[in-house]
Amino acid sequence: MGNVFVLDHPLIQHKLTYIREKSTGTKEFRELVDEVAMLMAFEITRNLPLQDKTINTPVMETQTKVLAGKKIGLIPILRAGLGMVDGVLKLIPAAKVGHVGLYRDPETLKPVEYYIKLPSDIEERELIVIDPMLATGGSANDAIHSLKKRGAKQIRLMCLIAAPEGVEVIKEEHPDVDIYLGALDEKLDDKGYIRPGLGDAGDRLFGTK
Ligand code: PRP
Ligand code: URA
Repeated sequence: MGNVFVLDHPLIQHKLTYIREKSTGTKEFRELVDEVAMLMAFEITRNLPLQDKTINTPVMETQTKVLAGKKIGLIPILRAGLGMVDGVLKLIPAAKVGHVGLYRDPETLKPVEYYIKLPSDIEERELIVIDPMLATGGSANDAIHSLKKRGAKQIRLMCLIAAPEGVEVIKEEHPDVDIYLGALDEKLDDKGYIRPGLGDAGDRLFGTK
């Protein structure tokens, strides 16, 4: 069964508070999402493999470590996932980025896929699907199915805020996928919004309504 990790570092919790606050404007919201994405990337890269490297400091030759160069792919779910890409790339600049375009039909709440473009070697990469919100779980579930259908073997999911309902869907449908969250909220409302949540992540990031 996939594991669920709530990355409740004090800096993440602090910044999430201002992300949730409804009076936070677009510019600040964007900056905070970028910062939290970077902090989450720091936490989820803890186990990246290292290899030895010999270097010369100004004092002597020494054996030290560098990243072994594991191939990583970031997969933001459009559009709100875009708000987290740059923050993650600050720490993993060599990652390739694929895009999955999905929107939730406001009536049915079912995701509709409208775009997909992926790195050609996704089967060799560890993929990190990113989306600020995991609500019913429909969008992340569809995105992960789409990636698996195209050969993806190693997938993790990273979201700012999730509802328990969405987490259950991913655990059920994709027991091989570990889930990393900034916060696990109480529940969904009858319109499929996370409570207390942050409202509509895409609209708040891009200043739309
Ligand atoms: C939001 C969010 C997720 C999805 C989560 O996207 O960014 O992709 O809803 O909801 P779910 O778990 O119930 O599927 P939205 O459909 O609003 O599209 P947008 O990113 O283009 O605004
Ligand atoms: N999508 C959002 O942007 N916010 C929610 O609360 C649920 C889905």
